Amino acid sequence: MPSAGPHDGAMPMHRGWRVGGPSGRRVLTGAVALCVALLLPMVPPVARAQAVGYDEIAPLLAARCVMCHTGTAAPLGLKLDTIDGLLAGSQRGLVVKAGDPAGSELIRRLKGSSQPRMPMTGPPWLSDAEVALFERWVATGLGRGKAGAVPAAQAPAPARPGPGEPVTYAHVAPIFATRCAKCHAPNGLMGAAPEGLVLNAYEATLDSRDRARVVPGQPAASELVRRIRGQARPRMPFDGPPWLSDDETALVTEWVRQGARNAEGRPAPVPVGAEVRLHGTLQGPWQLDELALVPAPSRRDRSPGVGGYAEVRGRVQADGGIVPQRVRGR
Ligand code: HEC
Ligand code: HEC
Repeated sequence: MPSAGPHDGAMPMHRGWRVGGPSGRRVLTGAVALCVALLLPMVPPVARAQAVGYDEIAPLLAARCVMCHTGTAAPLGLKLDTIDGLLAGSQRGLVVKAGDPAGSELIRRLKGSSQPRMPMTGPPWLSDAEVALFERWVATGLGRGKAGAVPAAQAPAPARPGPGEPVTYAHVAPIFATRCAKCHAPNGLMGAAPEGLVLNAYEATLDSRDRARVVPGQPAASELVRRIRGQARPRMPFDGPPWLSDDETALVTEWVRQGARNAEGRPAPVPVGAEVRLHGTLQGPWQLDELALVPAPSRRDRSPGVGGYAEVRGRVQADGGIVPQRVRGR
């Protein structure tokens, strides 16, 4: 097997520059030699110093991977917040092999030739240039980089809104990314996203074409909130416990209550006419937990009594009210 990958030798090495052979005519004038000498430092860095160090990939790991791959809950035990964790690999074995990008699971995951593709929150995936950087780090021997001790790649601390500041998608997105997107992604742990619900981007989270899982302004009418509180079963995250912390649950609930603002702070419109499918406990004929339903003629199956667990299918009115169409005991 050739040891040099396609990355190597792509650029001519200036060490080998010769003008004329031993018997050749020396046409190089002093001026041209001077020009060559001046141009050499402009040869792109890749030709001179091909080695990529861990310090160059650490910022990408911090921004795109560490939110999941850290601590005791790291998927498959693969910790990506230090070079030692990365080199130690996962429960399945090494994820990088020096000099062999194509044989390295980490590279295959970044390219999607091994599924699920990483980062699990994608798309967006890493750019071609970013993947190439990882490939060169593997191809050139998994070096630590210039700084002998590379600081741990820290995931950015989850931002919390200041007092009186609105809750936006930017505050809740890290919760969805770390706790939900591993399944609720187009190609997640369970294959297709469960119930078609994708939670790795704002638009997808708010998508109400199939049915609304988030009704802006109304946590009680939002199945997403019901699921993380455990009012609707099965409780989410599906692989819990641990469930979301009280603090996280409160933050997501408040985000919905304030209108499910996007990252720029703009509240989402009420999805008038959208279908909802809610699970919870009937506290009265027109009351699902704390949600007051709009009394309306609706089909009642398996006569769920007060205190019973029920599924309510209905539609969102212009004023945000939920008009039930069918109430079914579960
Ligand atoms: C949203 C959480 C999440 C993010 C972000 C994420 N991963 Fe993963 N990763 C997972 C999960 C879950 C698995 C286990 C999937 C499986 O069953 O193969 C996994 C598996 C892997 C594996 C396979 C390990 C093996 O031995 O098979 C590699 C390699 C990996 N991730 C690298 C990365 C890299 C590199 C990034 C960033 C570019 C990243 N991951 C971002 C959740 C995530
Ligand atoms: C381990 C995989 C997994 C994880 C992690 C996960 N879910 Fe789920 N989710 C599922 C499955 C499976 C279902 C379908 C369960 C059912 O209703 O039978 C589901 C259903 C749902 C539903 C109901 C969708 C609907 O249309 O009624 C919501 C809402 C939901 N999940 C939100 C979340 C949230 C929010 C998180 C993170 C806090 C999360 N899930 C984490 C697997 C997962």
